[in-house]
Amino acid sequence: MTVYRPARSFAWNAGHPPKLPARPRRLPAGPPVSLFGRQIECPVGISAGPLPNAQWIQAYARLGYGLLTYKTVRSVARQAFVQPNLVFCRLGEPSVAEARAPRNPDPAAITWAVSLGLPSADPDEWRADVKRARARLGEGQLLIVSVAGTPMPGGDGEQLAEDYARCAQWAAEAGADVVEVHLSCPNTMGEHPQMIFEDKALSARIVGRVRRTLGSHPVIAKLGATPSPRTLHELATRLAPWLDGFILVNGLQRRVVKQDGVPAFPGVGRELAGISGAAIYEHCRVQVEELIAWRKAGAWNRAILAVGGITTVERARDMLAAGADAALVATAALADPLFAARFRQAR
Ligand SMILES: Cc1cc2nc3c(=O)[nH]c(=O)nc-3n(C[C@H](O)[C@H](O)[C@H](O)COP(=O)(O)O)c2cc1C
Repeated sequence: MTVYRPARSFAWNAGHPPKLPARPRRLPAGPPVSLFGRQIECPVGISAGPLPNAQWIQAYARLGYGLLTYKTVRSVARQAFVQPNLVFCRLGEPSVAEARAPRNPDPAAITWAVSLGLPSADPDEWRADVKRARARLGEGQLLIVSVAGTPMPGGDGEQLAEDYARCAQWAAEAGADVVEVHLSCPNTMGEHPQMIFEDKALSARIVGRVRRTLGSHPVIAKLGATPSPRTLHELATRLAPWLDGFILVNGLQRRVVKQDGVPAFPGVGRELAGISGAAIYEHCRVQVEELIAWRKAGAWNRAILAVGGITTVERARDMLAAGADAALVATAALADPLFAARFRQAR
């Protein structure tokens, strides 16, 4: 089973950090990796999502992960959507939800759809909590804090960029080693529903504003799936001057239905859910490799952090061998907490 309990609310899960297996006796070195001017003990990390607060970060920090991401926070408190928030997907048909969670799913094969709505604690709360999280990590571990802007009624792109920058500044002040600008979330300002990264000009405005606010502090941007290599290239080239790195790919946005065709996540604003886990690997791998190819071609030189469907140690190794600077997991962290330890032991 997974350590996140899909039958419980997000708030319940956040308040109940998991009882994880003990730190393995044998935890060989990483291999160490140099990233953002720091020596990191292991290139396997946890992406935004599984770690909603310092207690969860502390629980996982013992288990050998080199990068730990504090789940996306905002400038205003926001509740999660009501349940369901996580449904298991049918094998081979990820847009169709299983009627019930499988009893003993194979961690390497789990594919699920996520619809949480980017909840956030109040800024006063998360700013204090990020400080606690940083204090619980070792020298060789990197704390990434993911931030998202919140559009205000009547607000424009400038307001949104300012809001991203405010969160980024708070995250950096609280101790984030790296600030992750979450661009793979819905842009609710436009006439057509779109993800922010799909609007290059808006994305550039946001990361430009964050860079001006943070000075030389490390900043990365999280991207979703682009429809073509060209789109990815154009987006990355536009954003690279403001960034220290990219993390991709966020879960694939799909309409997810139950077996009778009814939406698996009823409610306004929940038309699309993020499919995560094993089944999205090939899609994500191709996109990460495309970005690595553009970097090799010399367009820009920025870190590339791979995420999306990395549910086996072999996949993590393949992404690193392909040139990714780090391999991050969300689903595997929840389904297989000892993932980083097994990666280190398999060397
Ligand atoms: C329970 C859960 C919550 C997530 N929450 C966030 C989030 O707050 N911010 C974000 O950028 N991505 C979030 N994600 C997406 C993951 O960071 C990751 O991009 C995606 O799950 C694909 O990786 P995976 O196949 O290893 O799960 C979440 C994923 C899961 C499973």
